[in-house]
Amino acid sequence: MKAVPGYERETRIFLPMTAKNPTPPERALPEQTDRNAGQGLASWLDQRLPLISFMRAEYIDFRLPRNLNWLWNFGAILSVVLVLMLATGVFLAMNYTPTSTGAFASVEAIDRQLAGGWLLRAMHMTGANLFLAALYIHLFRGLYYGSYKNPREILWLTGLLLLLMIMATAFAGYILPWGQMSYWGADVITRAVGAVPFLGASLEHVLTGSDHLGDIFLHRFFVLHFVMAFLVVGVVGLHVLALHISGSNNPLGIEPKSRADTLPFHPYYTTKDLVGLLVFAMIFAALMFFWPGLLTEPDNYLPADPLHTPAEIQPEWYFLPFYGLLQSVPSKSGGLFAAAASLLVLFALPWLDRSPVRSMRFRPLCRAGVLGVAVAFTALALAGKHHAEGGWLVVGRLAALYYFGYFLVLLPLVSRREKTRPLPASITAAQGEPS
Ligand code: HEM
Repeated sequence: MKAVPGYERETRIFLPMTAKNPTPPERALPEQTDRNAGQGLASWLDQRLPLISFMRAEYIDFRLPRNLNWLWNFGAILSVVLVLMLATGVFLAMNYTPTSTGAFASVEAIDRQLAGGWLLRAMHMTGANLFLAALYIHLFRGLYYGSYKNPREILWLTGLLLLLMIMATAFAGYILPWGQMSYWGADVITRAVGAVPFLGASLEHVLTGSDHLGDIFLHRFFVLHFVMAFLVVGVVGLHVLALHISGSNNPLGIEPKSRADTLPFHPYYTTKDLVGLLVFAMIFAALMFFWPGLLTEPDNYLPADPLHTPAEIQPEWYFLPFYGLLQSVPSKSGGLFAAAASLLVLFALPWLDRSPVRSMRFRPLCRAGVLGVAVAFTALALAGKHHAEGGWLVVGRLAALYYFGYFLVLLPLVSRREKTRPLPASITAAQGEPS
């Protein structure tokens, strides 16, 4: 992406936001009065509550590396989908009944009787699936380009906190329609939590609130789902704050050396993000309108029945890798520990990887290693889907060994000694222009 010469100067001339010298109203020409009154009000407001200056400094003029690729679209995509989830969620909640006798019927009524209800629900369900998909891509981008490294550790840790919170929100949300999968998925997980040594029974009781999955449980998860979704917004604020302190990483993993290595957010990345959002919106609409069955489980259109276990109990696709881990380890509490450890190990990543080079583009060995992590994660999901039986049990175990082996053995050992490819002198130099 090339800078338009003189562009920034022009922006300052055409968008004088804080207007240090507004025309005094008594001297303004009649046709100028309205425009200047607008500026005056903006400047008056901005001096008291500098939201406009903040937006200008942190978004419009905020400078980012000039070489960000399409993978850097996902932060904006996640932010927009989060807003969509909150907006549709609030309207769904107005029509939802959080009781074991009323939940299923209220969701059916939203789908069939409420005007536009089917669209609200379709957007919320498609949004949940694509949110998790975007989250995994966003996380993997960070793994591949070393965005977890100094000075972006807090950015990485707040991102992981978001991942845990969103997983909890998605799990709680899936329980709410109180269909067969909601009920039996919750049954598997609460029992697994009950198997945690020492604390299990108390934790299970905190979740269920009684000796069975019923009204108290459903009510708790409704509140959890709702509250967590809003807490996520607060943590996103911290995440973006941390991003604006360290600045964005980029595919080369080197810091910008001069102004020429960067571009202002507007118009370069506003347009790039808009294109990304448009493509994402098309995939969203295609899934929602043409292939809704891809993302839904038919069993969840049957009301929860504690007396009838479905032939197959399976979590949503985004939990399958963890389900695969749970099943690949012989003991129940061991499986739970492995599933939790697979996420916790990511929190230690900034300190496990000791290489001074960030981007895997220059680290051939670790590049193969991290691509292997993506393959292992997919293999665990497939093992989970096939209930880790027969050959899939072997696949699940090998994938689990590789996953932990990469983070806990390969990365710490290799990262100090690996032979890296030479880094370019600057971002502009790498693009073949003088820096
Ligand atoms: C609600 C969920 C999330 C939202 C709304 C969000 C939002 C954003 C935004 C807007 C950016 C800047 C644009 C970009 O780089 O794509 C960003 C960057 C980043 N996020 Fe997230 N994020 C979320 C979750 C996560 C998760 C789960 C992780 C992984 C641990 C993560 C790690 C990062 C990192 C490392 C960066 C900086 C990347 C770089 O500059 O190379 N985020 N995020």
